[in-house]
Amino acid sequence: MNLLILGATGRTGREVTRVALARGHHVTVYVRSPNKLGPERASLRVEQGDALDTERLSAALVGQDAVVSALGLPAKLALRPSNFMAEAAAATVAAMKRAGVGRLAIVSAAVLFPQKGFFYAFFRWFLRHHACDLSAMETVVRATDLDWTIARPPRLVTGDDEPLRIAQGALPDKSYKLSFRALASFLVECVEQRRYGGQIVGLAR
Ligand SMILES: NC(=O)c1ccc[n+]([C@@H]2O[C@H](COP(=O)([O-])OP(=O)(O)OC[C@H]3O[C@@H](n4cnc5c(N)ncnc54)[C@H](OP(=O)(O)O)[C@@H]3O)[C@@H](O)[C@H]2O)c1
Repeated sequence: MNLLILGATGRTGREVTRVALARGHHVTVYVRSPNKLGPERASLRVEQGDALDTERLSAALVGQDAVVSALGLPAKLALRPSNFMAEAAAATVAAMKRAGVGRLAIVSAAVLFPQKGFFYAFFRWFLRHHACDLSAMETVVRATDLDWTIARPPRLVTGDDEPLRIAQGALPDKSYKLSFRALASFLVECVEQRRYGGQIVGLAR
């Protein structure tokens, strides 16, 4: 499969890149800072550009089968009001339509589930600005006729691949954290096997 990855220099995106290469896919990364790529750079097609640049992104998307988007904001910015995630999703969707690419798996967050309890309530408050931006991002994606999947993981941590619990439209019970690698495996399998189309999925270890 020809796969384009957004956010490939980030913690999730780096793992998505490694998983996709290990599974034999032809991987293109669309990044603004190619110097941040690791040794896997030699096995990649690298396109440089900003995620908000629809023109450049659509040119990079020609001939691709699917997109995995693991874009994010640095913690400092995610705690302030922003509409980057929503704007980047709008640019991604427009570029995919222009290039004729139909399959998208995109990372959102478990904080959007209305889970009960102090733990979840605290993070909903703490991450309220980012959650608002992610909610707008999801609205953009859900309004398209693309074959999309929105993954909502809990807190992400460094670690090996691990078995996943997946729930459609809900957060699995006691979902507190998950490895970047396990999320990456889910995202790649999702586009590869065309699973969970048109669904928001909650994930947990
Ligand atoms: N981390 C967690 O615990 C956690 C938990 C749940 C959900 N999530 C969600 O998972 C997603 C990814 O998180 P992460 O921790 O992997 O993010 P990250 O490490 O901060 O990586 C973000 C990626 O987005 C790229 N990016 C940002 N602005 C860009 C722009 N204008 N143009 C092109 N690329 C741009 C960054 O590129 P540069 O390297 O050039 O900056 C980087 O590759 C986020 O949306 C977050 O909401 C994260």
